Amino acid sequence: MKRLIRVGVLGCGYWGPLLIRNFRSLPDCRLKVVCDLDIARLKHACALYSDLEGVTSPERVIKGSDLEAVVIATPVKSHYALAKASLLAGKHTFIEKPMATSTAECEELIDIARRKGLILMVDHTFLYSAPVRKIAEIVQAGDLGEIRYINSRRLNLGLFQKDINVAWDLAPHDISIILHILSEFPIAINCQGNAHVSPGVEDVTNMSLFFPHKRFATIQSSWLEPRKIREMTIVGSQRMIVYDDLQTREKIRIYDVRVVRPPHYDTFAEFHYSYHYGDSYIPHLQQEEPLNLACRHFIDCIETNSHPITGGRHGLEMIRVLEGASASLKTNGAPFLFGGPNGGALAPVPSNDGAQSPSKPKRASRTASPPRLLVRGIT
Ligand SMILES: NC(=O)c1ccc[n+]([C@@H]2O[C@H](COP(=O)([O-])OP(=O)(O)OC[C@H]3O[C@@H](n4cnc5c(N)ncnc54)[C@H](O)[C@@H]3O)[C@@H](O)[C@H]2O)c1
Repeated sequence: MKRLIRVGVLGCGYWGPLLIRNFRSLPDCRLKVVCDLDIARLKHACALYSDLEGVTSPERVIKGSDLEAVVIATPVKSHYALAKASLLAGKHTFIEKPMATSTAECEELIDIARRKGLILMVDHTFLYSAPVRKIAEIVQAGDLGEIRYINSRRLNLGLFQKDINVAWDLAPHDISIILHILSEFPIAINCQGNAHVSPGVEDVTNMSLFFPHKRFATIQSSWLEPRKIREMTIVGSQRMIVYDDLQTREKIRIYDVRVVRPPHYDTFAEFHYSYHYGDSYIPHLQQEEPLNLACRHFIDCIETNSHPITGGRHGLEMIRVLEGASASLKTNGAPFLFGGPNGGALAPVPSNDGAQSPSKPKRASRTASPPRLLVRGIT
């Protein structure tokens, strides 16, 4: 008989109850205890599931001798301290995105997890979703041709956060998807934004990520839009994809369209762009709740001592990008070069997140090979 992995959850705000529901649903997992500093939120979670023990002290969960894993769904500013305490107490640790507030914090957490042989996973939920996995499969098979650019918009009248701006709150979803699709780390980033409602906390930002071979991605994030939009366009030299996450069934549409410049012409009159209009099609997606897959993956990694698909290294990459965006925001959108004179460190990230055995190659790892990042001019 399989042993049950005993789990505790810290944070019962907006996202915590979703994690509680999903961990409870897993057959190999026993969710024993939940914690929130806010007694009203704790009561709410415990009222949903009468068999849960509720506590207001995170230490009781972290130091609980009968738990093997801790799930952190608290505000970002508390992630590092809680995750560090959890890892030092010998618990496998699952942290909500974004992993921490700085790369230094992420590196320390990765190092502790590695030394102690513990699983450290960051919840980049979208990488477990069927549409994103399908898009990555299509791009990596070369079906779109060369990727020219990606444009992403994540907008609505949003839940204002106090400790992070909209780029740190919403853009992690887009950044994780884009890095995954392109399998590359950007050379540079720029970001502009404004704080209209809470002083010092930008509620609208526009960022551009520049990749080798003139590829780029733009990400627009806002808590101030009247309509909810969750849309990404991936433009390739042969085909294009529109991914609308608000659609229930037809989330991805692939367009067989392109524009081709004539290879040769003598006179201006002979010059025509050639527009190709082919079919568009909607691939079938096996829909499963991405958060459930992420929770299941964490438990699987503990059971098999494998590296998570979104381990500490992925969390660290994300924070590098967000730190670059914040640095650019402070200079009104001046480009921030990763690895450049004003840029983030280029040190190769550790090759594992604590697990002792290599994970099964469920998918090509973006960071398994040495970083391909070079300082180049932005073109
Ligand atoms: N993966 C996703 O799609 C997704 C979606 C939403 C939120 N999140 C992430 O989840 C985390 C929580 O976000 P939220 O929207 O639920 O925030 P929230 O403010 O609604 O809830 C956080 C809860 O944590 C509690 N808390 C604060 N400090 C604590 C501590 N030290 N110990 C125990 N409890 C503590 C607060 O009282 C609050 O109830 C954030 O990191 C956020 O980015 C992820």
